[in-house]
Amino acid sequence: MSTATGTPKPRIDGALKLTGQADYTADISLEGQLYGYPVGSTIARGELTGLELETALAMPGVVDIYHAGNFDSSLRHSPNSFAEENTVSEPRLPFEDSTIHYHGQYIALVVADTLEHARAAAGEVIPWYSNDRPAVIDSLSALPTDDTGLPGVLQEGDSNSRGDAAAAFDDAEVTHDAFYSIATETHSAMELHASTAVWAGDRLTVYESTQGVVFQKNALAEIFSMPSEKVNVISHFIGSGFGGKLFMWPHAVMTAVAARRLGKPVKTVVPRQLVFTSAGSRPASLQRIRIGARKDGTLTSIRHDASNETAFVGMHDDTVITATPSMYACDNVAVTNRVAEVNHGMPCPMRAPGEAPGLFALETAMDELAWQLDIDPLELRRRNFTDKDPASDLPWSSNYLKECWDNAAERFGWENRTAEIGSMREGDEVIGYGMATQSWEAMRQHCSARATFLADGGMQIACGTQDIGTGTYTIVAQTASELTGIPIDDIDVRLGDAALPSGPLSGGSFATATVLPAVKAAIEAAVRKLAERVNGDGQAFEGASADDITLKDRSLVQGDRKVAVTALLDELELGQISDVASTAPGDEQDRFSFRSFGAVFVEVRWDPGISRLRVARIVSTIDIGRAINPMTARNQVEGGLVMGLGMAMFEQTEFDHNGYLYNSNLADYIVPVHADIPPIEVELLDHPDYHLNVFGARGVGEIGLTGIAAAISNAVYHATGKRIRDLPITPERLL
Ligand code: MOS
Repeated sequence: MSTATGTPKPRIDGALKLTGQADYTADISLEGQLYGYPVGSTIARGELTGLELETALAMPGVVDIYHAGNFDSSLRHSPNSFAEENTVSEPRLPFEDSTIHYHGQYIALVVADTLEHARAAAGEVIPWYSNDRPAVIDSLSALPTDDTGLPGVLQEGDSNSRGDAAAAFDDAEVTHDAFYSIATETHSAMELHASTAVWAGDRLTVYESTQGVVFQKNALAEIFSMPSEKVNVISHFIGSGFGGKLFMWPHAVMTAVAARRLGKPVKTVVPRQLVFTSAGSRPASLQRIRIGARKDGTLTSIRHDASNETAFVGMHDDTVITATPSMYACDNVAVTNRVAEVNHGMPCPMRAPGEAPGLFALETAMDELAWQLDIDPLELRRRNFTDKDPASDLPWSSNYLKECWDNAAERFGWENRTAEIGSMREGDEVIGYGMATQSWEAMRQHCSARATFLADGGMQIACGTQDIGTGTYTIVAQTASELTGIPIDDIDVRLGDAALPSGPLSGGSFATATVLPAVKAAIEAAVRKLAERVNGDGQAFEGASADDITLKDRSLVQGDRKVAVTALLDELELGQISDVASTAPGDEQDRFSFRSFGAVFVEVRWDPGISRLRVARIVSTIDIGRAINPMTARNQVEGGLVMGLGMAMFEQTEFDHNGYLYNSNLADYIVPVHADIPPIEVELLDHPDYHLNVFGARGVGEIGLTGIAAAISNAVYHATGKRIRDLPITPERLL
């Protein structure tokens, strides 16, 4: 079976995972290790006035308890800069003061000899609070609104406009104006957040389940005032993150402090309940869309105003409106976003941040406009296709949205749709069809990698990025194998270690486009290094310029000379030859707009007798440039679509009137299970985008989750005549 790029290849780490040999963070056990167990606040706002610790300290196996009264005062805040790669999720340090800002805020860390002892003692820590002010639990009901009807503080950097959207709206032949809301969602990766810290002298090593070993290394170095070379972060395998593990959370800091104090490794696995309260969420958002159009469907005005909740402990702008200016041809567009502080834990990016919530509103509004105009929803979108990015006025690097629409519509059978509401039936069920456009920006970052030719004929590739389950190990191996001719089984890929040449976050759907060019450059650098050592007098490539010596089929080649790399290493008496190279984006972002597009079509089945709604099938066609591994790429889109199904129908993190998050477990926080997931047919187009990188790949992690919630709500309207603008679409909203 071919392992070349562009062909489907099962994950090379699959067997390790299935046989339990993959070392996930919580599985790592170090000699003499102790166990941390965090205690979270049970109130959402107030002051912690005291902690009763006597009982807990006397429990079996308890070593110590850390809290605001005895914590390390030498810590300083990370600058929290994305450019400096030291972003943290929650800027506040653990136990920094005694003010409580959200339910679940860490108030103590119990350390004991076993997990069970630590957990038991944590249950005996008794907090005393004063709370004389009610918690702010809902931005809309608690905070003032501006003239858009939305609460919060306007984020100037998010505003984007062209033309005069307000005037064009007033002059429009047809208008649509509605509010859309989305509940707070929690990432709920299967693998819990976990951190094991160990100090050796003044060096700190942290094993962490993270989407960014380099970012966490840099943030720890800042917080502990250490040179970053003395910190390492290791994350070999990750049971996904979805954005909830992009940036370090306070549990890692308090674990590292405990390990330093005690002179022993300390492992903290964040329990599921505290993952819900204290390790990120997609914040609730409220959006208003105003669209003006001509009767023929030509858009004349789009106004998209939004507000997302953030925490008192930190500002998270969810950029809900970010895609809107680029989606359709329209001369008059204005978008704004606000953030509104509530007493919730710190929100953070969650898969397709911005686009997933924003396109729910925009693509539902487009459907509503189509009904109002009596134009087929797909046709309305076709009439407003834009062949450049109207937001930046730059040409698309590549845009096959029309082919996505056509391909998905045909595979779905959109032409079988009869437009009238409730007109398609089978037995007791009413069938609804809905569709939406999908989109995600494409980015590339700087990256370094090391390539090593080994004397046994194999190769090692090392990069300080990580594989969060998406298949990064596999695509790196495929790429190195293809570039060198070395069989994929002989490529040893090392990731998930911040001591390796610095690699990117596994986020933003940019890892593939970022890492592979560095892998290629590193291989070329190693070839060059070898070439320079074998073109001397009496050597295999005597007289040849190193520039003219290339790698082909595991051999160096120049003119009619061809010698195996292994033979050359043997002759040089070298066990290996290795080099590091770095790559970075060029000026392509100034010349092109990079964005992936797709189309998603959904069939729902509605049984009005028992208010039962099911998604019966999903068809999606996506253009991501070139898929390096169509199997793992398809998995990403499928996973995104399933998360979108959850967003549309199930997921909502729920708070009571005191700000207490009460569905903090996977029984009460509903995500789609197999029985909820219909047949999903994904097709990836194959139009390489060489403007972004030599591999033509734009990345695929998030686009699947965009548009799908709107497609579902649009199908629900077609079936039921009920326009649901608030997610999730629970049965009671359909009664
Ligand atoms: Mo993604 S929200 O960048 O993990």
